[in-house]
Amino acid sequence: MNRRQFIAVSGTGVAVASLAKINPAMAAPLTGPIEERIAKILPQLSLDEKISLMSGVLRNTLGEIATSGLRPGQGHGYTGYTVGIERLGIPRIKCLDGPRGVGFFYKTTCFPVGMARGATFDPALEEKVGEVMGYEARALGANMLLAPCINLLWHPRWGRAQESYGEDPHQLGAMGSAFTRGVQKHVMACVKHFAVNNVEDTRMKVDAIVDERTLQEVFLPHFHRCVEAKAASFMSSYNHLNGPKAGQNKHLVRDILKQQWAFDGFVVTDWVTAIDNTVEAANAGTDLEMPRAAYFGSKLKAAVKEGKVPEAAIDEAVTRMLRQLFRFVTPDYDKGYTQKEIAGPKHAAVAREVARKSAVLLKNQGPVLPLAGIKSLAVLGRLGKEDNLGDRGSSRVASPHVITILDGIKQKAGAIQVSYAGESLSEAKALAAKADAVVVVAGLGFKDEGEGHDRAGMALPPDQIELIKAAAGANRKCAVVLVAGSAVTMEGWLDEVPALLLAWYPGMEGGAAVAEILFGEINPSGKLPIVFPKREDQLFPFADKALQVEYKGFHGYRWFDDKNLDPLFPFGFGLSYTEFKVGNLRLSEKAISKSGKLTVSVDVANTGKVAGEEVVQVYVGCLGSKVPRPKKELKAFARIKLDPNETKTVSLEIPASDLAFYDVASTSWVVEPIEYQVLAGPSSRESDLLKDKFKVLS
Ligand code: BGC
Repeated sequence: MNRRQFIAVSGTGVAVASLAKINPAMAAPLTGPIEERIAKILPQLSLDEKISLMSGVLRNTLGEIATSGLRPGQGHGYTGYTVGIERLGIPRIKCLDGPRGVGFFYKTTCFPVGMARGATFDPALEEKVGEVMGYEARALGANMLLAPCINLLWHPRWGRAQESYGEDPHQLGAMGSAFTRGVQKHVMACVKHFAVNNVEDTRMKVDAIVDERTLQEVFLPHFHRCVEAKAASFMSSYNHLNGPKAGQNKHLVRDILKQQWAFDGFVVTDWVTAIDNTVEAANAGTDLEMPRAAYFGSKLKAAVKEGKVPEAAIDEAVTRMLRQLFRFVTPDYDKGYTQKEIAGPKHAAVAREVARKSAVLLKNQGPVLPLAGIKSLAVLGRLGKEDNLGDRGSSRVASPHVITILDGIKQKAGAIQVSYAGESLSEAKALAAKADAVVVVAGLGFKDEGEGHDRAGMALPPDQIELIKAAAGANRKCAVVLVAGSAVTMEGWLDEVPALLLAWYPGMEGGAAVAEILFGEINPSGKLPIVFPKREDQLFPFADKALQVEYKGFHGYRWFDDKNLDPLFPFGFGLSYTEFKVGNLRLSEKAISKSGKLTVSVDVANTGKVAGEEVVQVYVGCLGSKVPRPKKELKAFARIKLDPNETKTVSLEIPASDLAFYDVASTSWVVEPIEYQVLAGPSSRESDLLKDKFKVLS
């Protein structure tokens, strides 16, 4: 495909324009009950046409960007698209990437990365994020956004950690389903990467070995939540799962996703090499190969002719895609959408709000923060001046502007004199020594972690550590702003630093939000969606080079609980400029039935001097289960806002069904009639949690 053809499918969409031209006398009505429309269309499609709908028509996304001469943000194009059939009013599927913003071809709103958004513990805000991305994708003529990414973080060195929301299935499900609902106000969401995609270096080849209980309880519940949110599509991952490629794993795709969960959308492969066997993929339930036909197309037709793939599987795939296309691509599809809104003030405000709520205050002795009563401030570190938005793989977003942390600080500094040193250590030391306070921007960037490459280790690069130590040594009023997509270890420097704010990759408005927090205009309220180990050897090894990895037992905070290890920072942890007291734990009942639910209430008081937001977390542990269970698991959370001296009651519901384990023998979820412990508080740390017990009756 040459550049001209590439451009020809862009804009507001061939398919939409063609819909208007269709003769209403034709046998394929444009409105009416969707299943009836599909029933009318299917018999009119030849086998060739049906098969043509089952693969994209783009040779290689990145290759075509290179040959077209397009650069990120220079428009136009799609990450992938299908043919559509004009005669019957079947629109093309047109995809653009997420999940940090609408990727890559256009200048769009760049949000904080998924992991940062996970730290907001704010599904309502995440729904708004999804809504903005969905709007922008639709205004650009697309009808499908390749997001959310909800792979569970098994090990913090996973290169794509930043794209996902965290390590906990409950939290991932809450955030992923909220995002899905938001996106789908405008376009189809594509929930990825299904499933057990936890390594980058070997992602195309690695075989993830997972027993059925771990698969159902740890790796899949959050995907199920997105099905419940009516996600239109799922993307299968590159890795193998218990032998076959994920998209060729019939148990995963057909049995669990399509049957057990009654998913009525379609399954698309990840891009380019996610499947390697035509018959296995089609029979397992893969509906669409992207971005081009490598194993579908003529090979799929031959397999049907040879009787290796039943035509019913082809009809099913087409039915699933038409169902979602007709649900979303209505005849007035592009009415009311304007590209003027893209990355405009309304959308930037959402990105700013997320950046404010996602920063996690990890340490604040003194307190050094918020910065007050200073006349001069030294800002140090090359990352302070970089457009450090995160990975540069498929989730890359080209935004029209980026407020760096240095920009943000300068804009907010007012009368405070700001000096800056980037690379030079001696200059940094000198500025730090002279100034009233110092902010060091340190951490990682796209070269350290990202799609296709895992992190080499968990410590910061030596130059970053050296800079932090030099600054902290020269000035006691030192705050580190840490930029990273997942947990880092802090040996050898954390003790020397009085204040630490984790900004993640905070998006195009991030620098402004960080500055607002540093100067006390905004009170930090993010909470860690992953546990931070003291040292990497507190964790199990990260098998980033292995071709087979077994996932079993516990991970994240469950691992720390099980091994009685003390992490550096626990899951759910984050400080504030005010003080909160969580007390008066009450349970609605002492015993509930297997179909009942429990209401857990606590009172939260703001006993400090400024308004703030707190995230109340409720964990449950099983007492006397007949199967090994984690000591506690997150079951509910809520973010609340409190003025000074204000107290609010937070009530959270836990349905008994959420306490079930997956019983492999009966292939069903079982709620045990045993005693359970409720643990509620502002983090998962033992000393933060109030406790009580209840029973589930037999
Ligand atoms: C990534 C997907 C992405 C796709 C299209 C793949 O390499 O794994 O997450 O949606 O490319 O860009």
